[in-house]
Amino acid sequence: MIEPLHLSTTRESYDRLAGDYVELVLPMFENEHLDRAAIAAFAGLVRAGGAGEVADLGCGPGHVTAHLHTLGLTAFGVDLSPEMIGLARRAYPHLRFDVGSMTDLDLADGVLGGVLARYSIIHTPPDRLPEALAEFYRVLAPGGLLLLSFQAHDEPSAPPEAFDHAVATAYRWSPDRLAELLRETGLVEVARLILAGSEDAKRGFPQAHLLVRKPVES
Ligand SMILES: C[S@@+](CC[C@H](N)C(=O)[O-])C[C@H]1O[C@@H](n2cnc3c(N)ncnc32)[C@H](O)[C@@H]1O
Repeated sequence: MIEPLHLSTTRESYDRLAGDYVELVLPMFENEHLDRAAIAAFAGLVRAGGAGEVADLGCGPGHVTAHLHTLGLTAFGVDLSPEMIGLARRAYPHLRFDVGSMTDLDLADGVLGGVLARYSIIHTPPDRLPEALAEFYRVLAPGGLLLLSFQAHDEPSAPPEAFDHAVATAYRWSPDRLAELLRETGLVEVARLILAGSEDAKRGFPQAHLLVRKPVES
């Protein structure tokens, strides 16, 4: 099958800038207290559900996968960029990292207790996002949780909008619109955390964390 162009351009861009990206995001994550709070809540709920492994999809250099591990989860990372996966494997040799696309996971149906997709769906063109969300739904176990984090639009009815991302073309979404898409995929909203846009936030945009669950009976 011919690979969609956005996957090859995103991969090439992250491969080229992987080293710079790590230097930028690792110190940043130390101070992202509200992101960490959302991740801690996600981890607590996955642990409470007792349901299986967690995939960090679009894991980049693997620091958040490693953080999930410290929170008591059996976590592994998947990323399009072989350079990113190489960095992750070197930094965290005790963890599993695979090269792959979140749109076509090498996983059986219903095997995951959780999926984390942190600022990684932003590079998927909006008309292709339903395909990725359907893949998340497929691999989650009944009762499994998805935490989706992304740069947001503060206008609730605004359509997804391309923005000038430092690495590759990216899109920001109104949390309401993305929550609706998740509902249409069959996922049920549990909670949302919206961080106000500020100069020190990513690009100054608000950031959204949507926590949703695959129903036990679907
Ligand atoms: C902005 S970085 C976020 C990295 C990490 N999740 C974090 O929180 O720092 C986006 C990452 O998503 C990856 N990515 C983008 N589209 C992807 C796809 N379709 N499948 C897997 N990874 C993807 C990129 O290669 C990149 O490493």
